[in-house]
Amino acid sequence: MPIPRVLGVLISGRGSNLKAIIGAIADGRLNVRIAVVISNRAGAPGLEHAREAGIEALVLNHLDHLTREAYDMTLVKALRDRGVGLVCLAGFMRLLSPGFVDAFPDRIVNIHPSLLPKYPGLQPQRQALDDGATVSGATVHFVNKDLDAGRIVLQDTVPVRPGDTEHDLADRILEVEHRLYPEAIARVLAAG
Ligand code: GAR
Repeated sequence: MPIPRVLGVLISGRGSNLKAIIGAIADGRLNVRIAVVISNRAGAPGLEHAREAGIEALVLNHLDHLTREAYDMTLVKALRDRGVGLVCLAGFMRLLSPGFVDAFPDRIVNIHPSLLPKYPGLQPQRQALDDGATVSGATVHFVNKDLDAGRIVLQDTVPVRPGDTEHDLADRILEVEHRLYPEAIARVLAAG
C-alpha cells in the first residue's frame, strides 16, 4: 500500500531542515502535505517556520511524561490522529523507544550530519574532526531500533577543510542537508 503523502515532522530546535522541506513543497519539488510539526521543547525556534507556513505547531514536552515510553506513545497518538504516513525527524534530539518504531514500521526517516555508518550518535562533526577525516557528509536513513543504523535512503559527501571548526563543518553539512532531505523524502514516497 502506498505511504499516505502526509508528513509529521519532529524537531527540537532551529528547524532549518523543516524550513527546507516546507520550501521544497512550496516550489513543487515535493508533493506532500505536512499535517503537524511537533517539538519536545516549547522554545524551539523551528516552530515559527511551521506557524509561518500555516502548519499546526504542537509542543509535546517530554518532561511532562514519567517515562520515555509514555512520551513516545503521546507522540504516536498525535501523529496517528492526524493521519501521518511518514514521520520525519529533523533535528529531533531524542532516542525513540521500540514502541514508537513499531508503531511506524519503515515509516520513520532521520537526517544525520555524517556519512553513516561513520560517526553515529552525538557530536558527529566533532567526531569527524577528531578522527582527522578529510570528507564527511550527511545521511538520510530509515529509523530502526538501533541508533543511526537503519537502511540508508540517500547520502552525500562534504569536504572537511584544514582549520575547520565544528561550527564551520556543521554549516557546510547543513547546506547539503537542505537539498538532500526533501529529495530523500520524495524518494521514500515514490518507492511507497
Ligand atoms: C542537523 O544538522 C541534523 O542533521 C542534526 O541536527 C541538525 C538540526 O538542524 N541531527 C542530528 O544530529 C540527529 N542525530 P535543524 O534544526 O536546523 O534542522
